[in-house]
Amino acid sequence: MRMVDLIQKKRDGLSLSKEEIDYIIQGYTNGDIPDYQMSAFAMAVFFKDMSSQERADLTMAMVESGDQIDLSMIEGIKVDKHSTGGVGDTTTLVLGPLVASVGVPVAKMSGRGLGHTGGTIDKLEAVSGFNVEITNEQFVSLVNEFKLAVIGQSGNLTPADKKLYALRDVTATVNAIPLIASSIMSKKIAAGADAIVLDVKTGAGAFMKDLEEAKVLAKAMVEIGNNVGRQTMAVISDMSQPLGFAIGNALEVKEAIDTLQGKGPKDLEELCLVLGSHMVCLAGKAETQEEARELLLQSMKNGKALSTFKTFLRNQGGDETVVDEPTKLPTAKYIVELESTQEGYVSEIIADEIGTAAMKLGAGRATKESEIDLAVGLVLNKKIGDQVKVGESLVTIHSNQENLDEIKTTISEAIKLVSTPVKAPTLIYDTISI
Ligand code: URA
Ligand code: CA
Repeated sequence: MRMVDLIQKKRDGLSLSKEEIDYIIQGYTNGDIPDYQMSAFAMAVFFKDMSSQERADLTMAMVESGDQIDLSMIEGIKVDKHSTGGVGDTTTLVLGPLVASVGVPVAKMSGRGLGHTGGTIDKLEAVSGFNVEITNEQFVSLVNEFKLAVIGQSGNLTPADKKLYALRDVTATVNAIPLIASSIMSKKIAAGADAIVLDVKTGAGAFMKDLEEAKVLAKAMVEIGNNVGRQTMAVISDMSQPLGFAIGNALEVKEAIDTLQGKGPKDLEELCLVLGSHMVCLAGKAETQEEARELLLQSMKNGKALSTFKTFLRNQGGDETVVDEPTKLPTAKYIVELESTQEGYVSEIIADEIGTAAMKLGAGRATKESEIDLAVGLVLNKKIGDQVKVGESLVTIHSNQENLDEIKTTISEAIKLVSTPVKAPTLIYDTISI
């Protein structure tokens, strides 16, 4: 086989066989196929697309390029959740303990990564002592006994994706549905889940800004998952404004604690109930969405969700007393209100801009080397549709830097007010399954 022939085949719109796709991915991973040929191939895929079979084959070739996590020692159906990312998305912190508390095994592998705030692991490290450097044996036995554990990402998960994603980034080939879908699904599949619930975000703060595009991506991922034998479904949810109120690491831990008790922001709670119900059903712990939702609501009310979170923190060395005393979480030196100079109704909260402001405070990493400040971030006091009076606080800024002029300007420009009432945006647009 020659790479040049395979590039030509794709360029001419023909389908590649599994053997051909394996050849490309293996060759690229081990360095036999150079970047320039892989770039040409990615561009051919961008223009000519891939069939369902090719997408599934590409995904599995990337899965097989590195380590695959074996969760077979964990009893039950392991369901993973993946969000395509947004601003202040606290769902993972809530969903883990919430679904574990009704008996769904959650074996979560998580990363740090770049972004407006840290990844799930960074957030959990706001709890003093919390440790993800546990052995595979400890991980398996914790999930078997307590239904929930988090472990740091293995260094050698889907190396083909790592290399290809970096190449796509500099060759204008990120935005191709078969490449995005296989990239995301390869990581989830390699991480070992039996079933996958996808939260595909749409709106100004999302990777897929447009609803129709988000649906196309969701369908592509659901199809791949089911074609390779992992039950997969997707929810399309709103990211036109940040989810919940808090954007920041310790601030989101606090928000998750509130939500586990049914005292969190309503949008975050609702999304967690919807995603959680799908997870509970896929895990075989309920027959219907309604039954699953009822189980989750009960668990929030009777304290089981919260006590599962405490046990989880304690099991991994974390100080569980932060749950009852959140003031023990890292706190910022300056807590400043950004007051409205106008009155009206909030019509827009540009999530990207708010995320950037949180990152400038130090809540997230701009580069791999950046240090995260776990204490800082933003808390929204108003959301789209809310009425605002002059002098009312729009946002509470938690900062360790004194000069906030630039950040205040960024936030003020990101929040738009109008004089007539505005409807809150739809939270869940669609559900996609096979
Ligand atoms: N996120 C991923 O992991 N991969 C993509 O290709 C795009 C977004
Ligand atoms: Ca949030």
